[in-house]
Amino acid sequence: MLIATDLVFSYPGQTEPYRFSLEAEAGEVTAVSGASGSGKSTLLDLLSGFLTPVYGSLTVYGEPLLHLPPETRPISLLLQADNLFDHLSAAENAVLGIPKGRDKAERTQLVAQALAEVGLGGMDEQITSTLSGGQKQRVALARTLLRARPVLLLDEPFSALDDTTRASVRDLVASLTKKHGWHTVLVSHHSDDIAALASRHYQIVEKKLERT
Ligand SMILES: Nc1ncnc2c1ncn2[C@@H]1O[C@H](COP(=O)(O)OP(=O)(O)O)[C@@H](O)[C@H]1O
Ligand SMILES: [Mg+2]
Repeated sequence: MLIATDLVFSYPGQTEPYRFSLEAEAGEVTAVSGASGSGKSTLLDLLSGFLTPVYGSLTVYGEPLLHLPPETRPISLLLQADNLFDHLSAAENAVLGIPKGRDKAERTQLVAQALAEVGLGGMDEQITSTLSGGQKQRVALARTLLRARPVLLLDEPFSALDDTTRASVRDLVASLTKKHGWHTVLVSHHSDDIAALASRHYQIVEKKLERT
């Protein structure tokens, strides 16, 4: 379980701070919605360590995380337009998720497995710029899979996709979350994404998370 308790934060010049408390269960999608500018991305930055709260606690499986820098937190962050390298192949992008130290043959095999798992089997050598938006998000998910972190944070990940593609990538996130026991926190303003995916739903109201 991921537990954030009273994470207090304000940007310079803000008088009223954010106060975020949230719980996310392994194997489940926890959705967060809220108006534009309500603090959704701020919440994910606090969880992933790009922002530091002045107060509060954050644990995953009881282990405190707030003292850790982003790269060593057990967390992956996936954004709407994920920063894949367009001139590299699907495999060359996905392999960036694998920690250093494995030999090349092993890496190649792990990447092929991950690409197959996200529905891109056999497309390892395809150059990323020639992939569709949905396929690019699948490559980003393969990289996430290879990072093998227990928490996945998604910031409006399907917004740039058409409805059909959105539904299929969404279903993939749901099945990967369940299969790998991820604590997935999904920021979305699409009520159908939330209805289809989320076991829990929070809304940001007046700088706090309210469970709906
Ligand atoms: N680096 C920053 N410095 C000051 N204010 C910021 C900064 N980043 C975001 N904000 C402000 O904080 C509020 C919440 O932003 P954000 O978390 O990005 O909202 P959301 O993701 O819900 O649209 C907005 O009013 C935004 O203008
Ligand atoms: Mg945002």
